[in-house]
Amino acid sequence: MNRYQEAQAKMIEKFRRTAPLAAEADLIPYKSEGGKWIPSPFAGDGWWTGGFWPGLMWQLYKASGDELFRREALRVEEKLIGQFRVFRELNHDVGFMYLLSCGANAKLTGNEQAGWDTLHAASLMMGRFNPKGFFRAWDGEDKRGYAIIDCMMNLSLLFRAERMTGDPRFAHAARIHADTTLREFIRPDGSCSHIIEFDPETGKRVAEHGGQGWALGGQWSRGQAWGLYGFTLAYLNTKDARYLDAAERIAQNFIAHIRPDGLTDSDFCQPKDEERIDNLAGAIAACGLWELAGAAGKDAYRDAALRLTDGLLDACCDWTEARCGVLTKCTASYHDDGAGRHTNITYGDYFLSEMLGKLCGTDPMLWI
Ligand code: GLY
Repeated sequence: MNRYQEAQAKMIEKFRRTAPLAAEADLIPYKSEGGKWIPSPFAGDGWWTGGFWPGLMWQLYKASGDELFRREALRVEEKLIGQFRVFRELNHDVGFMYLLSCGANAKLTGNEQAGWDTLHAASLMMGRFNPKGFFRAWDGEDKRGYAIIDCMMNLSLLFRAERMTGDPRFAHAARIHADTTLREFIRPDGSCSHIIEFDPETGKRVAEHGGQGWALGGQWSRGQAWGLYGFTLAYLNTKDARYLDAAERIAQNFIAHIRPDGLTDSDFCQPKDEERIDNLAGAIAACGLWELAGAAGKDAYRDAALRLTDGLLDACCDWTEARCGVLTKCTASYHDDGAGRHTNITYGDYFLSEMLGKLCGTDPMLWI
């Protein structure tokens, strides 16, 4: 066994023990503290991260064949489907929530209702489209014109819906948003803005806002990772070379900022004496770089993906029984917003499992 196969085996073993604790507590794990799973501090089962736990379960199911993981994925899928009725917490992140739950179920088992639920989510996403050129990210009177870099990942739900239905509306809207992001978010140095506000009446750019990074004009590393992986997926979905070029520019900037220990700062512009790591960003970027290496035919991206993965495995995986999850030093926002700093957060474990799946030949590629 190589070190990636060993890590995947340890992950399967750990979650065999700790996934039943989530079912016992009847919650969707957002993070773990000590021997306990903690649900999201915001929006209950409607928080944008809810799909990562079923996604993680499907990754481990594919890697092990263990029914325990399939059952646990389906348990949480039901909770997320319940959010269609609640509706008020849902936003553009229906891509994250439903591609990795019902989308994964439909892809891996052929379950027909899961396919309809995936289309339901895509239709909700379409309801957020502003024909002036962007998908509205969040609700709130003051946010009618807000679009964010993270949305590039959610576009994959629309490309999936186009393939499922043969209806090009889904892909037209996704491409319009991707083109706006290409034009308005990517800076000359290859870094990405987090939030751009547009006039919702005209589509004209109004302002850039600081988001979860260090400061306005900074480089929030997770946003860079969403852009990197999101444009790579846009390329894989469309074969439009402009998206591949964008992914490469973002990747080169990201790679230039990987720390010597292979870990990722929370913001690439943060003060040099500040120790603030975000391993969520490192795990997402590793997956994006791996796919980009295949798409662009360049080994340098594969090497960088391995450097990031090795950094996580060398220093930031907790295999002990003291903690339910695995990946440590995950940071939701540079300025603490109560969502977690330097701790285990479930979507870090999701992207680590996806990356190990890629390296072990078991990743079902749930984004496409
Ligand atoms: N998509 C929100 C975040 O990355 O925190």
